[in-house]
Amino acid sequence: MNNEIERRRTFAIIAHPDAGKTSLTEKLLLFGGQIQVAGAVKSNKIKKTATSDWMDIEKQRGISVTTSVMEFDYNDYKINILDTPGHQDFAEDTYRTLTAVDSVIIVVDGAKGVETQTRKLMEVCRMRNTPVIIFVNKMDREAKDPFDLLDELEEELVISVRPLTWPIESGPRFKGVYNLYEHKLNLFQPSKQVVTEKVEVDIHTEELDNQIGASLAEKLRGELELVDGVYPEFNVEEYLKGDMAPVFFGSALNNFGVQELLDTFVEIAPSPRPTKTEEREVKPDESKFTGFVFKITANIDPNHRSCIAFCKVCSGRFSRNTPYYHVRHDKTMRFSSPTQFMAQRKTTVDEAWAGDIIGLPDNGTFKIGDTLTEGEKLHFRGIPSFSPEMFKYIENADPMKQKQLAKGIDQLMDEGVAQLFVNQFNGRKIIGTVGQLQFEVIQYRLENEYNAKCRWEPVSLYKACWVESDDPEELEAFKKRKYQYMAKDREGRDVFLADSNYVLQMAQMDFKHIKFHFTSEF
Ligand code: G4P
Repeated sequence: MNNEIERRRTFAIIAHPDAGKTSLTEKLLLFGGQIQVAGAVKSNKIKKTATSDWMDIEKQRGISVTTSVMEFDYNDYKINILDTPGHQDFAEDTYRTLTAVDSVIIVVDGAKGVETQTRKLMEVCRMRNTPVIIFVNKMDREAKDPFDLLDELEEELVISVRPLTWPIESGPRFKGVYNLYEHKLNLFQPSKQVVTEKVEVDIHTEELDNQIGASLAEKLRGELELVDGVYPEFNVEEYLKGDMAPVFFGSALNNFGVQELLDTFVEIAPSPRPTKTEEREVKPDESKFTGFVFKITANIDPNHRSCIAFCKVCSGRFSRNTPYYHVRHDKTMRFSSPTQFMAQRKTTVDEAWAGDIIGLPDNGTFKIGDTLTEGEKLHFRGIPSFSPEMFKYIENADPMKQKQLAKGIDQLMDEGVAQLFVNQFNGRKIIGTVGQLQFEVIQYRLENEYNAKCRWEPVSLYKACWVESDDPEELEAFKKRKYQYMAKDREGRDVFLADSNYVLQMAQMDFKHIKFHFTSEF
């Protein structure tokens, strides 16, 4: 069992849209033998086939809404890549996916550097000390100076960096990368199909001049000296603690620098790590199975109106048709057709190990965060809700369909599509999302799946924050003062709906003993 767990690498690739996540994923699948030629999974095609068929609206909008899992073997390793939605309106989905991975690869566009979405996702990684490897992509295009880029990464992502490869120029002059730990030169040849040969060179000899020309050789020697002087030695322990990120340069589109990334990744990236529960820490090599649901997607198969609950196996071995304990329902269940996902297919699995993701057919039995065990009452932690950024009142637009609407809202919230708050003052329901698109998805799905109609009405809010205090009197006083702005979330927790940043700041000043949280887990 230890061997099975040790060889697993479960991770996500995160990036700002367009940085090259799809292209990199494709190349990794290529190395894993999951696809035969590059270009088979054209840009965005992973999104369009593997996931988008699952939900009609995605086809219409041409964007990826859901998260899928791809798995393959590489050398002795079993790789699980958790794909994340390309569109930033579904960032919440990505946040949750990050709770199920053991490490991440961040893709940054060499010309654009750190962009908003990357910054936000990194914050989530930092909350959980997730180990991070950075891939600076699109070096075949004019990129920023590598030293400036590294400074930017360090500053904006708040992590110390150590380059493991070094680029020789960029854009049309891009010559390749020098591998700092293998001391090999990897010359660039623009091609989607060919993986370039590496040449071993002693950078202090004329061989380097012969390979890349005297002036570039001189420049490279100078830069490498500077790199050694400026950056600390790469330290795996620090990487595993989430304090240091190794950096690679390359071009995903040209399959350049990807193999180095993958080879280093499988070697240093962590195998499944222990997971925290309310009760205790669960170690991956415990003999009994435990797992939690981090993601639910609807309509994977358009012919059957069922959902799939994605469950991360946290310990032990999961077997098909074995009774497991659903902690929230206090019920035993068995699963006859759990699935695993290969690039674009899903297959039934008989067993899965800690680190794997399994898809469980779901007809409303699961909620995000649900736990399965062999009998122990455990509650996994670390699937927080983040304060939404957009809010609207949801109203019933068809009086005959009140029940359907309530059921639809309930189930969509269980899936984690958005967050529901009930205003305690007027009893109205407020839906909070991170993007406009989610409102459209909700409306569409309510109509198509629940035969219910909703209408949105504006509400001007800045943020929702969860409030708590050790001083019950002050909390009561606060709730009284802000009674028009107090709501409950679905777990019945108190939420303050601040209508502006100013109001929030004043509240924080006036009520010193109240803690205002911007995630639901504190
Ligand atoms: P994403 O999943 O992060 O959104 O990015 P994706 O891989 O889809 O890449 C976004 C665009 O950037 C694509 O171009 C892709 O071809 C291009 N790209 C990715 N990696 C590289 C690279 O290393 N070098 C260069 N020059 N371009 C790269 P597109 O025009 O949007 O799509 P397509 O016409 O290639 O299908």
